[in-house]
Amino acid sequence: MPSQLTAKASKFDVKDVSLAAEGNRRVAWAAQSMPVLRAISDRFARSQPLKGLRIGACLHVTTETANLMIALAAGGADIALCASNPLSTQDDVAAMLAVNHGMHVYAVKGEDNARYYQHIEAVIQTEPQFTMDDGCDLVTTLISKFPERLKTVVGGTEETTTGVIRLRSMQKDGVLTYPIVAVNDALTKHLFDNRYGTGQSTLDGVIRATNTLVAGKTVVVAGYGWCGRGIAQRARGLGAQVVITEIDPTKALEATMDGYAVMPMSEAAPRGDIFITVTGNSKVLREEHFLVMKNGALVANSGHFNVEIDIEALERLSEGEKSKPREFVEQYQLGDGRSVCLLGEGRLINLAAAEGHPASVMDMSFANQALCAEYLYKHRAKLKPGVHTVPHEIDAEIARLKLASLGVNIDELTAEQKHYLASWSEGT
Ligand SMILES: NC(=O)c1ccc[n+]([C@@H]2O[C@H](COP(=O)([O-])OP(=O)(O)OC[C@H]3O[C@@H](n4cnc5c(N)ncnc54)[C@H](O)[C@@H]3O)[C@@H](O)[C@H]2O)c1
Repeated sequence: MPSQLTAKASKFDVKDVSLAAEGNRRVAWAAQSMPVLRAISDRFARSQPLKGLRIGACLHVTTETANLMIALAAGGADIALCASNPLSTQDDVAAMLAVNHGMHVYAVKGEDNARYYQHIEAVIQTEPQFTMDDGCDLVTTLISKFPERLKTVVGGTEETTTGVIRLRSMQKDGVLTYPIVAVNDALTKHLFDNRYGTGQSTLDGVIRATNTLVAGKTVVVAGYGWCGRGIAQRARGLGAQVVITEIDPTKALEATMDGYAVMPMSEAAPRGDIFITVTGNSKVLREEHFLVMKNGALVANSGHFNVEIDIEALERLSEGEKSKPREFVEQYQLGDGRSVCLLGEGRLINLAAAEGHPASVMDMSFANQALCAEYLYKHRAKLKPGVHTVPHEIDAEIARLKLASLGVNIDELTAEQKHYLASWSEGT
């Protein structure tokens, strides 16, 4: 850790401040595809709904996140931001937010685990009153290591499936002491971000990491949730044979009826050329699977944490030095002449090797973040500690604004239709 990061003394810890100009250009480009967030930002600038609120954010530091941070600052908030994954930071964006916007930014792509947590603690040192988390590392660090800081925290938001699962288990254990809105549960978040965003950007990550041809390959997708559906759909679109593995019978049935081959990983392992885990679970790919994979199999993860692929097992099985034929590829020699290639250190491949979700889809996710922050701050006195769902009006408003930005018009209910739908007696 460089000396500049000494608790409150340092304003930021980024890789290189001279990258700010490049970050500025790329953030402006992303802004062009974020009309909903822009409309919210313009309103925030006029009405200042977050005036004086100190927000501590732990998010992937990307061009889209920068636009969210700028919108929140326009609404009057003071921002401290760290990365929600050691490998997802875009260093030019971190520099741009620190230099051009004077924000507290603590994020360096490739930081080790110790520095990752030091950065989370640096955000906590700014005494945030509101947490904006992606994966729940900020909230768990705050609650477990700095309980004295909780007194002034009024609320928070959580971006992703894994984070919401962790929050619900904290609530169950009675340790969640303030209200947090589960942004992931909004329809305008997971239907689009998890499915189309993760779908496209995960394939983008695999391709950028390897330059592999997907057509004709067998792509095994572990998990047929919102992200898995998107990845399977995009892999099929690129010409792959897609195999799904699941543990939930309903999701497995859905995958079967969507036309995919469904089987246990033990059967899929010898068939696959490319494996992508996206379950939110641990050790989905493990020793018994590596032992039967084809020579040169590509193994990647797009779930939140790097626990879905048992990397320790891969290390154990490998003989000699692993090689690094490309920036995000580690090739493990398994001793019998076969090799397995781990992509992006098993971290979310779409953010490690590509740029994460396109701005157009993050427009909706981050519109939810901004509006939920406003909602929670406004209603903080009456919201109880625990996990809260996104109010339907916010979800519907974001869908309306997004449709309008796309130039898509839809029908409205006639008075007669409203009456018909409201009446239980009109069956004929
Ligand atoms: N890469 C990204 O940018 C990105 C974006 C959004 C969400 N995520 C993360 O991706 C993960 C999945 O999110 P989601 O919204 O699709 O969740 P989801 O709950 O909709 O789907 C997860 C699926 O995995 C299945 N599953 C669990 N254990 C399994 C196992 N051992 N084998 C096979 N299937 C298993 C579950 O039954 C479920 O259907 C989470 O960790 C989430 O935080 C990543």
